Amino acid sequence: MQQEKIPTIIIVGAGLGGLSLYHALIKNKDKKEFNVKIFERESSPTDRWQGYHIGLTNYGTQSLLNCIPSSIASNLPKAMPSPIPGVETHGINITDQVGNVLLAPPVKPYKDVYELAKISRGLSTIVTYRDRLRDVLLEGVPVQWNKKCVKYVETQEGVWVFFEDGSQEFCNILVGADGINSPKLKDLQRISFFGNFEQHNFFNFSEK
Ligand SMILES: Cc1cc2nc3c(=O)[nH]c(=O)nc-3n(C[C@H](O)[C@H](O)[C@H](O)COP(=O)(O)OP(=O)(O)OC[C@H]3O[C@@H](n4cnc5c(N)ncnc54)[C@H](O)[C@@H]3O)c2cc1C
Ligand SMILES: *[C@@H]1O[C@H](CO)[C@@H](O)[C@H](O)[C@H]1NC(C)=O
Ligand SMILES: *[C@@H]1O[C@H](CO)[C@@H](O)[C@H](O)[C@H]1NC(C)=O
Repeated sequence: MQQEKIPTIIIVGAGLGGLSLYHALIKNKDKKEFNVKIFERESSPTDRWQGYHIGLTNYGTQSLLNCIPSSIASNLPKAMPSPIPGVETHGINITDQVGNVLLAPPVKPYKDVYELAKISRGLSTIVTYRDRLRDVLLEGVPVQWNKKCVKYVETQEGVWVFFEDGSQEFCNILVGADGINSPKLKDLQRISFFGNFEQHNFFNFSEK
């Protein structure tokens, strides 16, 4: 019997989306095995300020927990505020400039991200520190830093991926996880991170 070759997937971009996809592929390798390589244009995890917060909804959280192994899942609270029990709660309120609550969405209280993930109706959101979430997701991922993808060429066998430093890599499947508005890799099979969308839209696997 012919030995089936393990396909190689290259992920361009080690943001929240690329990292989540990496974990999902490794977590599911008993179903389908891939060699996964992930490339990032930034020079290190601290190269660029990652921004303030990102809100994860109950649906987004369910999807995220499906993607990541339990070792990473157990670190998620490190990326989230820890409200004082009985005094503060998770979630989002709209207040005026001195903190008077103008709008408090009627949501069932939940004590942590795992409880949030169990809410199957309505929309509840947990605030997450964007940089810490990325740090949590980076654990165990062999990101190749300083690798800006500048071009790709499709051949009969697969895809050649070219980097700014002059190097090139071959893969069977190339995934653009390089942010939602990337002009460079426009025609690519792309994914992005949508913590706010319904479960199955968490990754937007849109055909080019
Ligand atoms: C102000 C603001 C608030 C937001 N709030 C929310 C929210 O509450 N909830 C939510 O779900 N979403 C929110 N979003 C959208 C949010 O930014 C995205 O959900 C999330 O950051 C997308 O993750 P990503 O991995 O797809 O892209 P990114 O986080 O942009 O990651 C892309 C990565 O690819 C790298 N890269 C880019 N080009 C190349 C290249 N050519 N070669 C190699 N690497 C490359 C980049 O350096 C980057 O690290 C918000 C966005 C903004 C601007
Ligand atoms: C929102 O406001 C309500 C009512 O004042 C309060 O009980 C709740 O804890 C607040 N939630 C957050 C996230 O601050
Ligand atoms: C997914 O991508 C398609 C095609 O680019 C787009 O039409 C659709 O709105 C996207 N879905 C989300 C949730 O952004």
